[in-house]
Amino acid sequence: MKFWIHTYGCQMNVRDSEAVEALLEAAGHVKSVGEDDADVVIINSCTVRQKAEEKAIGKSGYLCSKGKIVGLMGCAVKRLGEDVFKKLPKISFAVGPRCFGLIPKILAEGRYPCLEVGDNEVPEGLDAHPVTGRAGTFAAVQSYVTVMIGCDNRCSYCIVPDVRGHEWCRPADEIVAEVSCLAARGVKEVCLLGQSVLRYRGSDGTSFPALLRRLQDVNGLERIRFTSAHPNGCTDELVAAYRDCPKVCRHLHLPVQSGSDRILADMGRRYTREQYLAAVAKLRAFDPEIAVTTDVIVGYPGETEADFEATRSLLDEAGIDNSFVFKYSPRPGTRAAARPDDVPREEKERRDQVLLADQERRGLRRNAALVGTVRDVMVEGPSKRNKARLAGRDTGNRIVVWDCDDPAASAVGSIARIRVLEAHPQILVGEECAENMV
Ligand code: 5AD
Ligand code: SF4
Repeated sequence: MKFWIHTYGCQMNVRDSEAVEALLEAAGHVKSVGEDDADVVIINSCTVRQKAEEKAIGKSGYLCSKGKIVGLMGCAVKRLGEDVFKKLPKISFAVGPRCFGLIPKILAEGRYPCLEVGDNEVPEGLDAHPVTGRAGTFAAVQSYVTVMIGCDNRCSYCIVPDVRGHEWCRPADEIVAEVSCLAARGVKEVCLLGQSVLRYRGSDGTSFPALLRRLQDVNGLERIRFTSAHPNGCTDELVAAYRDCPKVCRHLHLPVQSGSDRILADMGRRYTREQYLAAVAKLRAFDPEIAVTTDVIVGYPGETEADFEATRSLLDEAGIDNSFVFKYSPRPGTRAAARPDDVPREEKERRDQVLLADQERRGLRRNAALVGTVRDVMVEGPSKRNKARLAGRDTGNRIVVWDCDDPAASAVGSIARIRVLEAHPQILVGEECAENMV
């Protein structure tokens, strides 16, 4: 059959969709050129905010109305359970985030409608990677690798522990074997995934920094990224691993959620504003250019103007390089959802806009400090906005673009040395250093 997968949500979902793609190809199915051309369309859903869930359900309903075989996978399935069929009466199958490995069997048997919500099982096919149809694209040189699944942190607002289940870490040997296999196939950069990767602990006792040290030794691999991180994991052992492992990118995505101690305590984040700043200071003491990015929630129940101002000032004090702002959305069954969602929608919108404007200003200021420096940039391909330019990322995950005679012919995954000429809030513009030119 010809299949198409449409993915909503975070990198874990992107990775799970890739695993499903690989499993379906191994079972003899073929990826279609687009959704119209497919016999079966699979929607990988997210439920972290209500809007995200609505998008996936809306898309599935639309595809059902076009007479396709439609399957839903991912977080919304676990949250909805049997209700999935109330929302989508024509759907063929639905599988939860820890049982996507059942999809090939469900398709083979054609026993529709089928619901597999799952619970705390370890997904089959966690290490499956597609190979076909990737040559020349960035997907051929960059791969996500799941190191742990689930989450036991239980932050008050977050539905992820309910839908993705208990935390489970893959054995370190398996992760190292997977990364080695990817590198042998030409992958240059891996991004290790988990809800809170610094909590990683392999069954043989391997800590996350120890895992980084093992991956540093994988031949052919050039860059190691990971996400997401919790400030409590910013230990001396982590900093030492950064120092000793040049392949580990100088970037940390460190969600802060709020800059107000009162709100942080209510969220159950288990750190204070001072502790977050200390974690960032520890990283910057090791490397002042290390990029720190974050997630913020605005309009959490009871968030006052003073709390919000504390968030603004924290992002500035921490010198955050990029921030992703989310408007609070109550998720059924979470602790925070038991409280009134009392910040009005317009006020959430205003706080969102204020933080975006702050980020533009701060991003420009931080990027301006890099003008004149030379960055090692991994080539991703022609720039989306201007095909006459090449685009890639530096070690800090900053987007860098530069003019190039033949962008389409450039070697994706190679490292270019780029001198920064201009800073913008979200990108750096540069030129190739003379030593690169032939
Ligand atoms: N409402 C709004 N944002 C949320 N996030 C998680 N749960 C919610 C919610 N209920 C945000 C957090 C997290 C990011 C992935 O999504 O900022 O880091
Ligand atoms: Fe949610 Fe907290 Fe887990 Fe992140 S660490 S997914 S915010 S519960």
